[in-house]
Amino acid sequence: MAIKYKSGRFFTCAGILCWIISLNLYIYFYHYDKFDSVINNKHYQNGLEDYGAVNSFENENKISHRIDDYIPLNTSILKSDPVLLYQSEYLEDNRNVRPSFSSNYQNIYNNHPDLKSVMGQLDFNQRCNLYFQNLYSFDHNWAINPNERLPLIDKNDFDYTKWRASKTKDLKEAFKEKYSIENENDIKYRDLDRFIRSQYDKFWNQTLKVEQKASDMLSHLRIFNKCYIYGDDVKVKSDTKKLFNKQIQYVKSLRTINKGQESRFRYTKDEIAVKINPLEECSDLEHRLYPWLSFHFPIFEKWTGDIQMSPPRFTKSKPINEKGCFLNKFKNSLNGKGIVLTVGTKHVDDTVNLIKLLRAHLNTYPIQIVYYDNLSAASKRKIVQAARENVKDFPSSFQKVKHLLPQKYDYGLPQQDIWFVNVFNVVQEQYRDKFLGFGNKLLATVFNSFEEFILLDADSVILKPPTWFFENNKYKSGGALFYKDRTTPEFRPNSDSYFFRKMTPSVLDSIFFDFPMITSKTLELEAMTGMYHFMESGVVVLNKAKHFDKLLLLPQLNFMDLFKGRSHGEKELFWLVFIINGNEQFEFNKYNAAAAGQLQKPVIKKNGKERLAQEICSAHPAHVDDETNELIWFNSGFHLCGQHNKVKYEDDLKNQDNRYDPPLDTEKDLKTFYYEPLRLKHVIIPPFKNKEETFCDNKEDEPTRAWFMVHNLCNSYLWCGVSQIGYGDNLQKGTIIELDSETRKLYDYLGDTWVGIE
Ligand SMILES: *[C@@H]1O[C@H](CO)[C@@H](O)[C@H](O)[C@H]1NC(C)=O
Ligand SMILES: *[C@@H]1O[C@H](CO)[C@@H](O)[C@H](O)[C@H]1NC(C)=O
Ligand SMILES: *[C@@H]1O[C@H](CO)[C@@H](O)[C@H](O)[C@H]1NC(C)=O
Repeated sequence: MAIKYKSGRFFTCAGILCWIISLNLYIYFYHYDKFDSVINNKHYQNGLEDYGAVNSFENENKISHRIDDYIPLNTSILKSDPVLLYQSEYLEDNRNVRPSFSSNYQNIYNNHPDLKSVMGQLDFNQRCNLYFQNLYSFDHNWAINPNERLPLIDKNDFDYTKWRASKTKDLKEAFKEKYSIENENDIKYRDLDRFIRSQYDKFWNQTLKVEQKASDMLSHLRIFNKCYIYGDDVKVKSDTKKLFNKQIQYVKSLRTINKGQESRFRYTKDEIAVKINPLEECSDLEHRLYPWLSFHFPIFEKWTGDIQMSPPRFTKSKPINEKGCFLNKFKNSLNGKGIVLTVGTKHVDDTVNLIKLLRAHLNTYPIQIVYYDNLSAASKRKIVQAARENVKDFPSSFQKVKHLLPQKYDYGLPQQDIWFVNVFNVVQEQYRDKFLGFGNKLLATVFNSFEEFILLDADSVILKPPTWFFENNKYKSGGALFYKDRTTPEFRPNSDSYFFRKMTPSVLDSIFFDFPMITSKTLELEAMTGMYHFMESGVVVLNKAKHFDKLLLLPQLNFMDLFKGRSHGEKELFWLVFIINGNEQFEFNKYNAAAAGQLQKPVIKKNGKERLAQEICSAHPAHVDDETNELIWFNSGFHLCGQHNKVKYEDDLKNQDNRYDPPLDTEKDLKTFYYEPLRLKHVIIPPFKNKEETFCDNKEDEPTRAWFMVHNLCNSYLWCGVSQIGYGDNLQKGTIIELDSETRKLYDYLGDTWVGIE
């Protein structure tokens, strides 16, 4: 009996086993068939055009805020009547990306399936509260974590075919290792194929997850900033009120058309449970959204040594509004116009030179020198001395320009009002290492206390007085003036622009919170059409009171590899924070960076004739104002070679070819030449049309590209810009400017002042 019993058990077990095996086989084949059909469908073939969620991802309702249990967006909210109709009537979505929006809207939609009730009954403040009530009610512990890695896994090949092509070799090795295959001939290509496809799928899933996470974070931040930091702003109040009134009418008109019932807005139990009082809760919100902040002001130390723990007052008229949370208070305490420099100890010499230059420009704006790591007492003393000492000795070039300078020169050069701003304590301890290096400049932007400021690199050289920048028309129009970089032929993959577009306000941000959607102005920026280097951030002019909300996002973008990996240093982040808010009030000076110095001797072509294209080789990206066509500033200090301390003179002497005119004979001469100020005679703005026409091949031995680097001189800082490229059909001409003699004398004087030549 016992045996019989056992064999019965055996059959039961075998039956279960068979069942499991067949189930597995079924899943295996079914899965792969389905898989193949997914891979073979258009999405994978077309790559970027279809970059976005694969349909099968859209299968869950609830949204989580942690990356590991990310569940894809349910986009049905976009197809709901009021959204769809409103969009077709009032909004133009130029983003051209797969549906993308904060997943928190989905929570709101789940709670209020009839969105007409939200649009027709909740005013701006109520919507603000509703957004965060839903965030809390979904997860009491929601918060932004600056340390969460949002990796940029691969930005080059989103398209399956390209991705595969670039990685086949590595993936084959991984495949062989995984299945312990030693012999190349033992590889079953169908299996390898599947393996590669599954790897791509993993990469793709991960990319979508990370981007959704970024999209959520940025939406939370921009909505908070607008609601609780700018909520009391007159213009925000009136604009959002207009929007609300428009939507009340719109919802009414829908009702008339559909003869529908009036939809009543009702809070859910969970929403009611979360009490949001903007004044008190703002503080809780800002701690969750900006956990890297310590919520202390930086320490402001005047040149006299006096220290204060809150922003100094430069204007008397404006009363300080002390209401609200830290970020409200900070925004309300911004005042005055000034200059902002960011320094580490190694930039002190440049800073001293820049201060001498500012004095020569008769600058009277206060200067805040923001530092993060240590600035030694000796460095501070040097800076203060340059700012306060009595200037008696002018360089000899001064005599030649005396008549060009303002009368005020007779009273001597103004002493500068220097403030050292220590921002170390504004950052929470565990996030401090995130701000080393370029982060410094971002902190200087966020934590200077001016209402309007000019941000300068320590080695930026301005050829116009600071007032000139504040009075620039482009600056005055929107309160943000930026300059463009050299158009060197380095390009972005299409996925960069796609990603940037995806991070701008969505249709839902626009409907509920009145964020503008981007227009052609954003889409036509050269960085969006594929140029890698776009902005040069050596001079940035900003109205901070107006744009505080955008500037607060700078550090946040710098935390995310998704952005950091797509910007050289911090420079592109400045315009990115604007478009992420759908705000297009920034202006770029029209001209790309130029080469400034003297025209090189004409290059002799292979046929013995002189090249038509002229050339300037210079270590200084320079900028020409698009209104006046004047040279207004350049970067890399005033020394002819800013790297003169790092140059191997022996090598440079050998490598100079025809670049220096007349050629230098000895290392000593070369040293003097590199140290002395750049003598400005000509400026070339090389031609630029677009990414596609950056290379202009020709048989005439004329230049094919607008810029090239001379690697073996001035520590690889020397770049040559040419006045034209191509020939005949593909000829593109840039601009050559010759400076008049008075201007040249003035610049010589400024150069001597900066370098400290007698
Ligand atoms: C998406 O959400 C809608 C409404 O909230 C729901 O009816 C639908 O079932 C959801 N779709 C999926 C695939 O979960
Ligand atoms: C991709 O994501 C979907 C939805 O979250 C999931 O069902 C699928 O298994 C994932 N595929 C891979 C290869 O990770
Ligand atoms: C500043 O320098 C001192 C001495 O070199 C060092 O002990 C201290 O940790 C530094 N502080 C910062 C913030 O780097």
